[in-house]
Amino acid sequence: MQRRTFIRLAGGGVVFAAAAIAAGVALTAGSAMPESATAAWRTAGAETEPRRFVLAHAILAPNPHNMQPWIADLGTAGIITLRLDTARLLPATDPFGRQILMGAGAFLEVLAIAATAIGLRAEIALFPDGEPGPRLDGRAFARVRLVAAAGQARDPLFAAITARRTDRRAYDLARPPGAAEWDALTAAIGGLERFGSTEGAADPRLPAIRTIVREAWRRELETAATMMESLKVLRVGGAEIDRYRDGIAITDPLLVALVRTGLFDRSVPPAPGSSAMTAQIDDFDRITAATPAYLWLVTEGNRRAQQIDAGRGFARAALAGAGLGLVMHPNEQSLQEYPEVAAQYQAIHALLEAPAPRFTVQILARVGRLPAGVAAADPAPRRGLGAHVAA
Ligand SMILES: Cc1cc2nc3c(=O)[nH]c(=O)nc-3n(C[C@H](O)[C@H](O)[C@H](O)COP(=O)(O)O)c2cc1C
Repeated sequence: MQRRTFIRLAGGGVVFAAAAIAAGVALTAGSAMPESATAAWRTAGAETEPRRFVLAHAILAPNPHNMQPWIADLGTAGIITLRLDTARLLPATDPFGRQILMGAGAFLEVLAIAATAIGLRAEIALFPDGEPGPRLDGRAFARVRLVAAAGQARDPLFAAITARRTDRRAYDLARPPGAAEWDALTAAIGGLERFGSTEGAADPRLPAIRTIVREAWRRELETAATMMESLKVLRVGGAEIDRYRDGIAITDPLLVALVRTGLFDRSVPPAPGSSAMTAQIDDFDRITAATPAYLWLVTEGNRRAQQIDAGRGFARAALAGAGLGLVMHPNEQSLQEYPEVAAQYQAIHALLEAPAPRFTVQILARVGRLPAGVAAADPAPRRGLGAHVAA
């Protein structure tokens, strides 16, 4: 879900602004990202115990809807056992937990990178108690042992862990990623998965991808279950953001004011064709048009370990991109497995020469640079290490 679009969620922003002012709500009240909600980005390096150090970095990994569903058990000396919090899954948009496992993979990759910064290597055993079936469960997705690795160099991606952001704004069409940057991303992914990207503004796949992602986005909005799943984790304004420190954080003053005046009802999906819906579609169209390139990762097969590996690959690409001044924004809508987007799922797999079911496009992301003069986005909230450590 896009942040900016919510400004116009109920349409006629001016009317609502007037209503908010009439109700005595200052338009700027509660519309800043609270420092406390993003403290984890500034304190990760201060952890001194090795397991806590690597975990404090791992929780900064990109992950679907920022649900941060990771539980770390430190009960056995020298070992980190990682499980999923099954109350933090996304059953409507991610019915088989594929994306949640990609987020778990991103978490493991950031953890492994952080280990190299303190002279350690993370030995990772996936699914030590067996792989989950079609629905994820609470069994361990990894057991990690940190071992001494004398002489091992610090992974250069370490420096980007705290700088990386998902950026959902318009990118600069005039400055697409260049060949050297694609090479750097390919090298960073390191052959983990099949990596592809559009090749310049003339690549016919660029408009074709735009068409598919726009249609998938519209369908996600118009499907009540997927729309409600996003609305449920919308955190609007400083107080809500700080209370939950997860989900989709909205700081736009107008929307914050709408919520404070009770004019934004999140208990029902906006009606198809309503201005609330069309505003979001228009906004997604606008950023889609301002997308100079896409990247994707494909697996042959779709085993649980491959989903984890794809998440590891995406984390490396995002970190390498951050180091190069590139921004990214996953667009997963056409890759999701619920029936309303089945046609877009087939279309994107065919377009990227990854026919399903033999292949799975695990991630498709916008890539580019921010227009000159546009500052980096705020970091997304994190719940903090204490919320993840079970013992
Ligand atoms: C597997 C995966 C799928 C994602 N899909 C989307 C998406 O479809 N749309 C979107 O805006 N963000 C998507 N994201 C980005 C997350 O929303 C983002 O990582 C999270 O909100 C935390 O923000 P951060 O990356 O800035 O730390 C995805 C991330 C991952 C790892």
